[in-house]
Amino acid sequence: MKFLIVGPKTENTKDLILEIKKRGALVDVVSPKEFVFFVEQGEFSVKVRKKNLLEYDIYLLRGYNKTLTETRIFAELLLSKGKVVIDGTVAFDYIPSKLYEASKILRAGLNYPKTVLVTDNKRVEEVVNELEFPVIVKPIYGQQGQGINKFNNKIDLINFLAQKDNSEKFLIQKFLEIDGDIRVFVVGRRMVLGAMKRFVVPGDFRSNASLGARAESFPVDEEIEDIALRSCEAMNYEVAGVDLARFDKKWYVIEVNSTPQWQKFKGITNINPAQEIVSYAIKKYEKNKR
Ligand SMILES: Nc1ncnc2c1ncn2[C@@H]1O[C@H](COP(=O)(O)OP(=O)(O)O)[C@@H](O)[C@H]1O
Ligand SMILES: [Mg+2]
Repeated sequence: MKFLIVGPKTENTKDLILEIKKRGALVDVVSPKEFVFFVEQGEFSVKVRKKNLLEYDIYLLRGYNKTLTETRIFAELLLSKGKVVIDGTVAFDYIPSKLYEASKILRAGLNYPKTVLVTDNKRVEEVVNELEFPVIVKPIYGQQGQGINKFNNKIDLINFLAQKDNSEKFLIQKFLEIDGDIRVFVVGRRMVLGAMKRFVVPGDFRSNASLGARAESFPVDEEIEDIALRSCEAMNYEVAGVDLARFDKKWYVIEVNSTPQWQKFKGITNINPAQEIVSYAIKKYEKNKR
């Protein structure tokens, strides 16, 4: 059995490699930036350093933001050849926008903070009277808390968006007064591994692990489990980091991450998602073969 990990060589990748090798399987790691596509009579192939990328059995897609189109073309090709791809969703049902997430989450009957997106940033004045301040403004492609701002009044919001050209889009979202959010880890669509609470970073309003948020283990009750699994199902992800915030006696879905990092989660909960991801991938491969 041969695995290919597509993504950066992070600690998470190292965890995956270790788990794959423990099971006696082979593994290579490539960055999607290295992909070279060949279109020749009768053959469409993808290579990295002359190595044919169609020769593996299981593909773990772990990082592709800046090469999404090529990664999607690659993933769709792999699925057409009956390969195991995690997450295969990237090939056929994925729009990289927090707006798409909002649409799917609401349709699943879950709570999402009140949000507005203006396609033309200059038109925010049309909706500004309907907003409750403060608001949080997030780039639709954002991650790890980058590029997020909080605005206390209309003028600051209008001025901020006036400087942005329309190639950048933003969610304008009700700011929830919270002391942090919880990250629930889901693997294999149906298995909730556990959860941790991440506290807002002192002097900030964000609680991303990458910003050094303090965290602790958080018990998963039936309600959290149900919301996490429905979020994962709504997005059609096989592996997900579901972020929830408790406000006004309700759980709100803040974000569903399709390629979640887990170093903080592993350290806090003693649960290693790599183990579960690799087991799930092998099970899927064996089912596929039959
Ligand atoms: N509506 C909100 N109200 C209060 N805090 C929020 C809200 N949305 C996000 N946050 C905080 O900002 C952090 C980053 O927001 P998120 O939507 O997860 O974007 P990113 O993809 O950059 O992580 C969250 O972890 C949370 O702590
Ligand atoms: Mg987040």
